[in-house]
Amino acid sequence: MTVLALAVTGRGLVDPSEPVIRADDEGLLRGRAAFETLRVYGGRPFRLEEHLDRLTASAASIGLPAVERRRLQVLVGLVLPKAEHGDATLRLVWTAGPAGGVPSALALLGEVPDWIETARERGASAVSLLGLRASAPWLLPGVKSTSYAVNMAAEAEARRRGVDEALFVDADGIVLEGTVTNVWWRVGDTLFTPSLDLGILAGVTRATLMELAPESGYRVEEGAYPLAQLLAAEEAFTSSSVRELMPLVEIDGTLLGRGPACETLQEGLRRLAANV
Ligand SMILES: Cc1ncc(COP(=O)(O)O)c(C=O)c1O
Repeated sequence: MTVLALAVTGRGLVDPSEPVIRADDEGLLRGRAAFETLRVYGGRPFRLEEHLDRLTASAASIGLPAVERRRLQVLVGLVLPKAEHGDATLRLVWTAGPAGGVPSALALLGEVPDWIETARERGASAVSLLGLRASAPWLLPGVKSTSYAVNMAAEAEARRRGVDEALFVDADGIVLEGTVTNVWWRVGDTLFTPSLDLGILAGVTRATLMELAPESGYRVEEGAYPLAQLLAAEEAFTSSSVRELMPLVEIDGTLLGRGPACETLQEGLRRLAANV
């Protein structure tokens, strides 16, 4: 990630190469921190308030001090002017701080990685890997904590197997989500996506697609679906704030066709982002 700007509570804008987290911050020592990643379009963050809502909920699930929304909004305001050509990625971090101490808040503005558009054009390949179906609250279902080492290890395993990304399925073969994405597929005019009660992350893009689908002529069905159903779909794609919609053209060696839903909804997302 190429960092364009960094702002930190209590200090404001700082040189991105400077250290900003205390060595005894529990975010660093135990992964007790929450984060969000979103896109900035034309200098404006897309659905910032929804991301701040999710950050607040994640922080509460991990038992972090309550997110101070205003502080984060101020940090965002500091880094935004540094968005190159108006488009960028924005990462927000809220840490536990040292035991009994105050949390740290960071806003990092970064370049949108070039590989995303290349991958969107050629379509992505994926492998299914066993993932955790988190149900009990201490397994942190749907929480975006910085304890993402498992997700990153799954992504590395996918690359080792020569594909772009990993899709988590539970021990019963039920499709969950990608390592940093939600998963969708289409049969006829119906879009299928795993339901949130499977313990997956409530993607902000997922919610946006739920809004966009009906006006694009698609109905959405949420549920617990076996991998075989995804492999038999007419098209499949992932959704996330940074990668947006990414067509999946191969899963576990099965080739999938490209289809109109991914393209139409990607256009709808961009249109929405341009008008906010
Ligand atoms: C595990 C996981 N699922 C889904 C998503 C997609 O969420 P969003 O659309 O809010 O970016 C992410 C994104 O960070 C994620 O990490």
